Order: sequence, then C-alpha cells, then structure tokens
Amino acid sequence: MWWDRDNETEAQAGALPTWGMLRRVHPYVRPHLPRFGLALLLALAGVGLMLLQPVIFKRIVDVDYPAKDMGGLLTSVGVYTALLALGTLFSGLATVLLGRGGVEVVNVIKRDLFAKALALGLPWLESKPVGTLVSRIESDSQRLVNLTSTMAVRILSATVMIFGSVLVVSRVDHRLFLICAAVLPVMVGGTWFIFGRMRARFREERRQYAKITGEVAELAPAARLIQALGVEAWAEERLAGHNRGYKRFVVRLNLLEYSLWGGMGLMQILMTCLALWLGSAWIADGSMSAGTLVMFAQYAGMIYWPIIELSEQLAEIQRAGGAADRIFTMLDTPPTVPAPADPKPLPARAGRAGRLEFQSVSFEYEAGKPVLTDFNLVVEPGETVALVGPTGGGKSTILNLVTRLRDVSAGRILLDGTDIREFDPREYRRLFGLVLQDLYLFPASVEDNLRAFRPEVPAERVREAARVAGIEEEILRRPQGYAAVLAERGADLSYGQRQLLALARALAVDPPILVLDEATSSVDPRTERHIQRTLELLTRGRTTLVVAHRLSTVRHADRILVVRGGTVAEQGRHAELLALDGLYAELLRTQQAHHGAAAILPGPDEGETEAAA
Ligand SMILES: Nc1ncnc2c1ncn2[C@@H]1O[C@H](COP(=O)(O)OP(=O)(O)OP(=O)(O)O)[C@@H](O)[C@H]1O
Ligand SMILES: [Mg+2]
Repeated sequence: MWWDRDNETEAQAGALPTWGMLRRVHPYVRPHLPRFGLALLLALAGVGLMLLQPVIFKRIVDVDYPAKDMGGLLTSVGVYTALLALGTLFSGLATVLLGRGGVEVVNVIKRDLFAKALALGLPWLESKPVGTLVSRIESDSQRLVNLTSTMAVRILSATVMIFGSVLVVSRVDHRLFLICAAVLPVMVGGTWFIFGRMRARFREERRQYAKITGEVAELAPAARLIQALGVEAWAEERLAGHNRGYKRFVVRLNLLEYSLWGGMGLMQILMTCLALWLGSAWIADGSMSAGTLVMFAQYAGMIYWPIIELSEQLAEIQRAGGAADRIFTMLDTPPTVPAPADPKPLPARAGRAGRLEFQSVSFEYEAGKPVLTDFNLVVEPGETVALVGPTGGGKSTILNLVTRLRDVSAGRILLDGTDIREFDPREYRRLFGLVLQDLYLFPASVEDNLRAFRPEVPAERVREAARVAGIEEEILRRPQGYAAVLAERGADLSYGQRQLLALARALAVDPPILVLDEATSSVDPRTERHIQRTLELLTRGRTTLVVAHRLSTVRHADRILVVRGGTVAEQGRHAELLALDGLYAELLRTQQAHHGAAAILPGPDEGETEAAA
C-alpha cells in the first residue's frame, strides 16, 4: 500500500485483525516476555507512586500547614520528593527496558524479512520497486516497535492512571467524583471522535511520506544517469512535487490536530474550573477541605494525558496493523524458487565437473510470452558450450535457469541425471562460478570479494587468481591492496576491471561448473587476449556455459549454439558453422565488418581452423 505502484491498497491496512496480528507477533516477543513483565511491574509501580502524590499534597494543605507543624511539613515534602524520584526512576527503567526489548524484537523481524527477500528469489525481487523492499524492511518493521514493546505497558499504565485517579477522588469526596463522572465520558468520547476523524488523515500522511522515501530510493541509484542525461531538473521537480504536497498536508494536519487537542484541553480546564467554583463554595460551607480541592486539581491534570495516550495507542494499533499485515504477507509468500522439503545430496564428484542436460525446457517471464520453447541441450562433463546469437534471443535466460535463479516453466534441467529442483538451491548454486552481465561487487574488501566470502578459499589462491586474471597490479596500486574496501557495486573500478575481478573470483572459488555471460565485452583487444587465456585455464576440466557477443571469444568452444527466438538455430564447432554458412557465419561477417579483422584474427598460438576465418 505504501505508494501507488505497490499493488496492495490502502483498504488492506489493518486487514489483519488485531488478535491475528498479536498471534503472529507473539513468537518474536516471547523471548523477551520476562523483561517486558518486569517493565510492566516497574511502570505500574511508577503510576502507583504518581497516584499517591496528590494525596501527600492534600495532607500538606489540610494537616501540616494549618498545624504549623514544620517537622510534619518537612516529612511530607520529603515523602513527596521521594515518591517523585522513585516514580521517575521506575518509569525511566521501564522505558529503557521496553526500548531495548522493542528494538531487539524488531531487529529479528528485519532479519527475517531480509532473509525472506533473498529467499523469495529473483522473480519476486524484480516485480517490486526497490523502494517497496526498503519500506517493508525499514519503516514497516519500525512501526512494529511500539506494538511489540511499549504499547501494552502504555495502555495498562494509562488505564490504571485514569481509574486510579477516579478511585482516589471517589473515596475522598463523592461530589468531585460526580464531576469526574460527568466530564470523563465527554472527554473520552471527544477524543475517540477526534481520532476517528484523524485516522484516515494519519494514514494519508504515512502514505505521502512513504511516497517520498520511495522516490528517493528509486532515484538515488540512478544519480549518475540523471547527471549524464542532464535531467536533474526533472528529478528534483519530481521530488519537490511530492514534498510540496506533503508539506501542505502536514501543515493542515497539524493545525487540525492542535485545534482539536486544544478543544480537549479546554474540557480539562472547564472541569477544573467547575470543581474550583463549586469547590470553593463547599470549602466555604465547611463540607470540603482546601486540600481536597488542591488534590482534585492535580488528579484532573493527571487524567487528561492518559486519555490522549489511550487514544493514541489505539490508533497506533491500527497503524501497526497495516504494517504487520504487509510484513506477514511477505513472510508468508512462498519462495519463487522453492527448496524441496527433502533435498537430495549433491552428486559426489571425484572428477568434479558435472553433466548438464536441458530436456525440452520452456520458459516464460510473463504468461503467454514464451522466451524459450522446447530447448534441448546436453553439456558433457568438462565440455565448453558457447551460446551466441542475436540480442534478446534468450541466452542470459538460459544461464538464469541453469543456476536456478529462476525455475523452468516446463521441461527440466538435470545435473548428473537429477532434476536440479531436487537439490537445495543454495547448495546447488555453490557449484557454479558466475560472471554475469550485470557485474556487482560487494562493498567489502577485494579479498572477500574474490573469495566470495567463503572462508575455505585460501588467501594464496585468491592472489594466484588475481595474478592469472591480470588484475593484481590494479589491486596492489591501492595502499591497502587486497584489504582495500570496494565502493558499492564496485563503482570505483572501470567496467573492464570489474570483469577481470569477476573472472578472478571464478578462478579463486574454483567451481566445477562455470557460467559466463559477456565475460569479455568491455576490455581492449590486448586485455581480451589475456582474458582469453585466463578463460582457457578457467574452463579446463570444468563444465562451461559461456555466452558471448564477440565471436572471437568462443571459437575454442567444444560446441557453439546459435540461440534465436528461444530455440537452437544452429550448432556445431566454429569451422562447421562457418561451413554451414548460416546465421553464425552471417553474425561473424557483420562483426568483422564492425570491429575490423583484428579482433577475429587468430593469435600466434592458434591453429589452422581459425586461420580459415
Ligand atoms: N526479467 C524479465 N522480465 C520479462 N522479460 C524479460 C526479463 N528478462 C528478459 N526478458 C525478455 O526475455 C527475452 C530474452 O532475454 P535474455 O536476457 O535472455 O536475452 P539475451 O539473449 O541474453 O540477450 P542479450 O544478448 O542482449 O544479452 C527478451 O525478449 C527479454 O525482453
Ligand atoms: Mg544477455
């Protein structure tokens, strides 16, 4: 619901009934219950001590002062101060306990949400704007802090405060109690009415606020593009538009809110005035003591805030309901790439490389728009199969399917004879070394990036891999070398350098199966030749699927598949495909014309077949 593009609507806010919501939150809160219980006791003790204070006041006015008893007065003041100090201490401790508990509970919820986001898989992630995820993990869970910690304590404290005050007043003077009884329902009803009117506006305020957060989350990553295209004005105006709307709304909301609260405050003053007016008459005729009136004035002040607190907390429950609803809906969403209940162990591989088989695989991103249809392919252990073909043909899709970032729509993919859906996807993916089209590097040290955070990869192999990939020089140029922390997404590296790092990562983790997408698209011809050799080293003894646009990259492949329109148009070795003089030969001719012969001419150590090209 948090903004227009999210398909959940406002109407769903609070759709989870309160009890349902509490039941879902309970497992998260349970470990902290002893602490929350203690906090509740402390808070109630604090309330009790506060409730006693006006009684002491009454004593000062009625007993100590008229008797001119200095000792008694000092004792009363001492007791009053002690009550105040203890009450403050208790409430303070309760607040600290609750605050800590609340943050801890919400941290666990955030952790679960983030883990869930990762487990839900690529299709789910791509279907949501980034902002949704940020909002779900950050704001929504933040909104549960109160619900999971302070809310119960606040509601109970406020209730005890109101009833306690009224009870003491009723015990001391029934006429004052009647005044309370007359005014209280009006105050409670008024507050309830106000909140009823404000609720929709509060929700709207949240929505508008989330819209701005979402806008920033969406636009910030595009900052470079925005600058490059010179469309800052457009981006700023977009944000400014939301901001202006938000400002107008908030100003109106605040005006409304405070005038309404002012009205409620007036009720409290009226109640006090009424009591003072009637009370002074009662004092004059001796039917009530002055201290009682002073005491009552204090209680009147103590009733007002708990009433507001109660309404606020009740409204908060509603708001938290919307957030909880969205959070638990997400936590309940089944993963798009599900793990089997009883996963098969990965095939033990002494020879390491695996045999991959696509059996009449079909796939569609959107229903009715097939991207792959009846795709068949066997990659024998250790074989290198290259995928080439026109853009949008489905090559990257094939790689996504084989790494189980997505699941096939029909048919199956087998690893050593077992359907890959029978393995645990996380374990399965560790078999792969990946160099993908969109290169991402983690904001972590070079070393951790290269070993993919796997502690079992020795530092020596990381260095060896960087050396072989020809990126060590660049790494060592930084003062911290391998310990240097990379910018997010590797923004402080050139695209080619990122590619080299990604290759080095594949070398370092030493996977049995390799999947490469456009591994050499962004480097100069010399580096490309360097990469070529690295690739040869890399692919040796590994089952490899490589996608390339530059056909020079794939000439050594054991087999080349020309993928067009989601099916295999041609396949064979380089020379065979040339002889066929079909799509491959045509693609090659076009490239030769574009890049010049240099990129395609054979290197000094290359054989006869290539020379024919
Ligand atoms: N996430 C997605 N959602 C919907 N359609 C998609 C998605 N990703 C790719 N497609 C569509 O699937 C088709 C195949 O895309 P794919 O990325 O596999 O092509 P490709 O062969 O790798 O192209 P290129 O050579 O340009 O990298 C394209 O028509 C593309 O529009
Ligand atoms: Mg692609």
